[in-house]
Amino acid sequence: MKTDKIRKLFLDYFENKSHKVVPSDSLVSHDPTLLFTSAGMNQFKDKFLGKDLTYTRACSCQKCFRTGDLNNVGKTPRHHTFFEMLGNFSFGDYFKDDAISFAWEFFTKILKIDSNLLWVSVYKDDDEAYEIWNRKIGVPDEKIVRLGPKENFWPSNVQKQGPNGPCGPCSEIFYDQGEKAGCGKPDCKPGCDCDRFLEIWNLVFTQYEREETGELKPLPQKNIDTGLGLERIAAVMQGVESNFEIDIFKPIVAAIKKEANSPACPPRQRENTEQYSCK
Ligand code: ALA
Repeated sequence: MKTDKIRKLFLDYFENKSHKVVPSDSLVSHDPTLLFTSAGMNQFKDKFLGKDLTYTRACSCQKCFRTGDLNNVGKTPRHHTFFEMLGNFSFGDYFKDDAISFAWEFFTKILKIDSNLLWVSVYKDDDEAYEIWNRKIGVPDEKIVRLGPKENFWPSNVQKQGPNGPCGPCSEIFYDQGEKAGCGKPDCKPGCDCDRFLEIWNLVFTQYEREETGELKPLPQKNIDTGLGLERIAAVMQGVESNFEIDIFKPIVAAIKKEANSPACPPRQRENTEQYSCK
């Protein structure tokens, strides 16, 4: 399935669930605390804080840039600098139950992903999310893992490190890429550093505001903020091992390859550092 189709299916699915389709915000952020937009929720910060509730459900495909990922680019098949993040948002409207049900329905009914290949994680003491996954959705106990504030609080480790603002525990959905993609350890599961379990969708239960003192104050309303990496889900749907092999990147990679092998710049010249510029 083409990346463009996945993007459209996502926005259509949530529009049919009464979400306003909001265009991507600028990549260079309007928020004075951010240089680049790094998540779909950035443009909705005020709504999470209960201001300007002209609508209470939204979805978007946000252009993102994460400087924090720079050191991983080129080392893993799934980290980029620029990427697109699909997201659905609730501002004091639905909460955990619907957010989890929507995500599961979109994956298993719309994209028709085999549910046997999906695993989930919840924040270590979030029994409510655990029960919804287990009892309502039917994910077996052995495929639900409980993780700590680094993995399952958003922003990661916000309690200790900040930033201030809306935050909350999260639950992630992982796609099992099979034993051959992993480390082979018998206890390998989501949270392991290897590539077997690919984190594809993060559902954040945004119910706190971190204050200057580091205290997490309950927000007046409970919110939902989700992030589904478009290039990662495209890699899953296209059965390729690296995001850089998906349909929207292929022509770019091919053009770079062509340029790199161009007769105007033969390899022997490129090997000679004194002649790096072959133009
Ligand atoms: N804001 C959350 C994230 O970026 C969904 O992972």
